[in-house]
Amino acid sequence: MKLFLDSSNTEVVHDAVATGLIDGVTTNPSLMMKEGKDPRDVILQICNMFGWTASVSAEVVGETAEEMLNMADDYIDIHPSVTIKLPLTPEGLKACKELSEDGISTNVTLCFSVSQAILAAKAGATYVSPFVGRLNDNSVSGVELIRAISDVYRRHDVNTEILAASIRDVHQVGRCFAVGANICTIPPTVFNKMYNHVLTDKGLEQFNSDWATLQDKLS
Ligand code: E4P
Repeated sequence: MKLFLDSSNTEVVHDAVATGLIDGVTTNPSLMMKEGKDPRDVILQICNMFGWTASVSAEVVGETAEEMLNMADDYIDIHPSVTIKLPLTPEGLKACKELSEDGISTNVTLCFSVSQAILAAKAGATYVSPFVGRLNDNSVSGVELIRAISDVYRRHDVNTEILAASIRDVHQVGRCFAVGANICTIPPTVFNKMYNHVLTDKGLEQFNSDWATLQDKLS
């Protein structure tokens, strides 16, 4: 069970990685655009935040497998932690197959169906990223898709890991892991909220107050 952070903001990623609870990071062109920095610098900085070979997804763009592979070459050179993220299209899967055969870590993104997840597995993807939140936005259960992919992968001994993406809230994290996701990639806001429970706050207040009372009695 691994937790990835879905962000290109190096300061925010740094703080989350410092908790010791984050296993990897995913980025995408929209997240990169928000930061407005050179994506190669962002990826290198994030890779260096881990003291081991983590998985840091750098997404390639392009119409053809060749274009994607050229862009992948630039990212692969940056750091051993780089995972190449490719779109679930015929050209994206062609590029994925080639990279996988060369032993490069790959993440096939924009997955919205079981049949797409089957193709990603056939292409040798290290990870497949079903988009939970965007499916829910379209009145289809994202969690049920995770469950269905997990059932098929388990039945057929597929090695591709299910990386639940487009997670919008804390509840979805628990649900995705419960139905078979290997990894959830979550926005920093969701990660920070995972700590919270009103009964934790209430219980802690009580324990602290009782402890102080005991200290008063003992002094
Ligand atoms: C997946 O890896 C994507 O980066 C991301 O999870 C998409 O999330 P969104 O639907 O909130 O944009």
